[in-house]
Amino acid sequence: MVMKKTSRKAPARRTQGQMALQLEDAPALARPPVRQKKPSKVAVVKPTKKTTRKTVVRKASAAPARVPRRPKERKRETATSLAAQQRDISVSEFFTKNRHLLGFDNPAKALLTTIKEAVDNALDACEEGGILPELHIKIQQLSETRFRVSVQDNGPGIVRQQIPKIFGKLLYGSKFHRLRQSRGQQGIGISAAGMYGQLTTGKGIRIISRTGPRSPAHEFLVQVDTRRNEPKILRDKEVEWDSKQGTMVEIELEGTYRKGRRSVDDYLQQTAMANPHATIHYTPPTGAKEEYERQTTELPPEAMEIQPHPHGIELGMLMHMLHDTRARNLRAALIADFSRVSPKVADEILAKARLPGKARPSRIASNEAEKLYKAIQAVRILNPPTNCVAPIGEETLTKGLESQFVAEFYVASTRPPSVYRGNPFVIEAALAYGGDLPGDELADLYRFANRVPLLYQQGACAITKSALSTGWRNYTLQQARGALPVGPLVILVHIASVWVPFTSESKEAIAPYPEIVKEIRLALQECGRKLGAFLRRRRRVADEEKKRSYIDQFIPHIGESLQAILALSDAQKKRTVKNLQEVLEKSRKS
Ligand SMILES: Nc1ncnc2c1ncn2[C@@H]1O[C@H](COP(=O)(O)OP(=O)(O)OP(=O)(O)O)[C@@H](O)[C@H]1O
Ligand SMILES: [Mg+2]
Repeated sequence: MVMKKTSRKAPARRTQGQMALQLEDAPALARPPVRQKKPSKVAVVKPTKKTTRKTVVRKASAAPARVPRRPKERKRETATSLAAQQRDISVSEFFTKNRHLLGFDNPAKALLTTIKEAVDNALDACEEGGILPELHIKIQQLSETRFRVSVQDNGPGIVRQQIPKIFGKLLYGSKFHRLRQSRGQQGIGISAAGMYGQLTTGKGIRIISRTGPRSPAHEFLVQVDTRRNEPKILRDKEVEWDSKQGTMVEIELEGTYRKGRRSVDDYLQQTAMANPHATIHYTPPTGAKEEYERQTTELPPEAMEIQPHPHGIELGMLMHMLHDTRARNLRAALIADFSRVSPKVADEILAKARLPGKARPSRIASNEAEKLYKAIQAVRILNPPTNCVAPIGEETLTKGLESQFVAEFYVASTRPPSVYRGNPFVIEAALAYGGDLPGDELADLYRFANRVPLLYQQGACAITKSALSTGWRNYTLQQARGALPVGPLVILVHIASVWVPFTSESKEAIAPYPEIVKEIRLALQECGRKLGAFLRRRRRVADEEKKRSYIDQFIPHIGESLQAILALSDAQKKRTVKNLQEVLEKSRKS
């Protein structure tokens, strides 16, 4: 038998250091006995450059071999011992540990998030009450890192009994269970801000609220009992208050106040831009008041509440809805609890599912619910109505940009409504170009969701993804691959929806649902095309000007030369220059 030769490399010679390492790595029992009296030759050899210090020390010592310690016996849990540790987790305890999920991951952001939650609530409350919002926002600096923040609105106020739960219990609110466009949606914002204040300063959240000029004002001091996620009332009394109606929320917290991008000042400036119907009086810690007067006395159009669209729900939710419905039978439940299900559509669904319309909805078994779910998917149903979303509008967006940036060109575009997972949404985009905007930097991207500026997590947001994937070069702008365009440009994108799909509870970035990404890109392209047309036109005009200036600059000299060569009189020279200018003007235009 012929052995096949394998070309195996000879093992590389090991350095002494490596040998020593190998010894260290080998199991203790396999070590050769160490002679104690005479140190080995190896031990006195000087270390080569490559050997590590650690290795040399070990080699040089001729200490007696250590008796290997037996590894500590590992504690093993049993199912029973684990069971003793298993218990409920309160939602407040969860968010105390995971406060970064709520936007409280650093002191500067904590201050911003606290104000943002209170301002969002104040604007929501005013609009729901049909009141033009007037907000007073104050930040007092108590020490280097401690602040007292207060936000007061002129909204409808809060019923006394509800105050403790709203501010002292996480996941409690009026917006979560409905499908209607609003800034808040989760029922966690303001109580989380209060909880952060409590965690960092030990102080509760102070509230004064009044529901009308004839009702008394109530003052509360509330904390969150994080173990039980229940409010702890520290103060509850009637007080004199100089406001006729509204709510004031005051929170003390550890934070950092700074200026610039993503600061409280920046957030309020952008809020004023997207909410021109609101007046905002702002006192920063420096005391230098800033006033944002309302630009319009018209409230945004009222956004209607809608029922879930049948094509947007999952099987589990369908079962839930059937269980909880107030309708007497299945047919009535389909018509009453879903958007766009007419009696005819309900009959079609029931016929496809082979289920009786008279069946009791709560008695529908899971296999029947599955049949119903499949039938719903197979039936054609109109898209949800779109009067439930209220975009800002092209005119207001343009005005907003004009009020903030001195530019040469402004454009805005509001897309027709679209749907993701059964939820209607509208995308709007606007651009400002040129003027005082810095020319050699990346474009500035401003993101808004239901009129709220989004300041953090830009990279994770569907708006950024769409802006990066838009081909800005088509509109004569410079753009590196995978980057925003370079130039004196501000890009603004707004999503208005009955349910904004945020990537986390801190509501900072929008999840990239394909329908949303596509709509944003289309809106940006619409604006981009108009910007491109403007830039091309501007370039053409500039070229013309340049050519005309050449004629004005050089022809008189030619006239003088001709006068000298041909001995023309002044009148002849003048005529010649005029003729030349006319001929050149005509040929340039043609
Ligand atoms: N200033 C206010 N005026 C009137 N009602 C308010 C005010 N602030 C809060 N509320 C009520 O308290 C509820 C809870 O507010 P919270 O900010 O915790 O949640 P949310 O606004 O519903 O949702 P999100 O967590 O997304 O902010 C609101 O749903 C609203 O009904
Ligand atoms: Mg809120």
